[in-house]
Amino acid sequence: MRDAKVIAPQLLEWYDRHARVLPWRIPPGAGPADPYRIWLSEVMLQQTTVAAVKAYFERFTTLWPTVQDLAAAPDARVMAEWAGLGYYARARNLLACARAVTAAGGFPVTRGELQALPGIGAYTSAAIAAIAHDAPETVVDGNVERVVGRLFAVETPLPAAKPELVALAETLTPVARPGDYAQAMMDLGATICTPRSPACGICPLIYDCDARAQGIAASLPRKAPKPAKPDRTGIAWVARLGEAVVFEERPAKGLLGGTLAFPSAHWDGRDLPPPGVAKWRDVGRVRHVFTHFNLSLQVMVGDLSAAPDRGHLVPLAQIDREALPGLMRKVWDMAQAQIAA
Ligand code: ADE
Repeated sequence: MRDAKVIAPQLLEWYDRHARVLPWRIPPGAGPADPYRIWLSEVMLQQTTVAAVKAYFERFTTLWPTVQDLAAAPDARVMAEWAGLGYYARARNLLACARAVTAAGGFPVTRGELQALPGIGAYTSAAIAAIAHDAPETVVDGNVERVVGRLFAVETPLPAAKPELVALAETLTPVARPGDYAQAMMDLGATICTPRSPACGICPLIYDCDARAQGIAASLPRKAPKPAKPDRTGIAWVARLGEAVVFEERPAKGLLGGTLAFPSAHWDGRDLPPPGVAKWRDVGRVRHVFTHFNLSLQVMVGDLSAAPDRGHLVPLAQIDREALPGLMRKVWDMAQAQIAA
């Protein structure tokens, strides 16, 4: 029988021995965890890998050890520290959430209350409730979908299979140690029940797994074919005046919202180069992959004859490469080589 009584104890026993050591994690059985650290890590981990998040998590918690510290931070500082993690709406929601939590006097406990906060959806609310409050909530991310889909040999392709996978996952969640159990499922998915070549030979659930029994583990979960990503093109204008270049802040809503950017054209609907440059030099192309499209940006460099009427000048020496979003960092790296030349 695959139910919580059979699966959870085996998985927890495995987790007690093999839990990954992660900066936001407390050791198995050592709960309760600090909701601030769990919330921060889960928001960072939305659409970003564990490997990429580690350093950002350490930096944020060093700068802002409590949710009150983060709530008091200037927006621009937080956006700059977030640069490189992508999906900038998450950073804006992060601050809005920190301020709401601080105003309320602390993090709420139930999944429903958590979900009412900015940037906290079904997944993150379940993760915080389970990991920080040991509530028997079922946490379903891509790893868990794969583990459950294999245990029950679900052949319905994703994303149509999601409701079925959530319902099956719920049947496995234990009342005892649900937080450790949630993290154990994530670890199993990340280290053993991996997408392409699952290490079934060392899996603690090998004898409970239908897909393994049928020899189809590696081919699950099935996926409906994705529509091809469209290719978009554009231009980034790097306008220089003496020892400074022009930056703009992107509109708060939308792609790379609120981040520092070079004036650009086409790909985001805006069109004109900054006026006042007699001659633009094409210095090459940068490519960047977004969730819904591929972007190829032509990088143009030019000298301004006077201060620009839009955007603001940032002295070359003060350009903080690390504070730029990934795309603009690529543009700057390419332009800078030319400016120096
Ligand atoms: N991915 C998302 N949340 C995670 C967590 N708490 N531990 C490990 N991987 C994760």
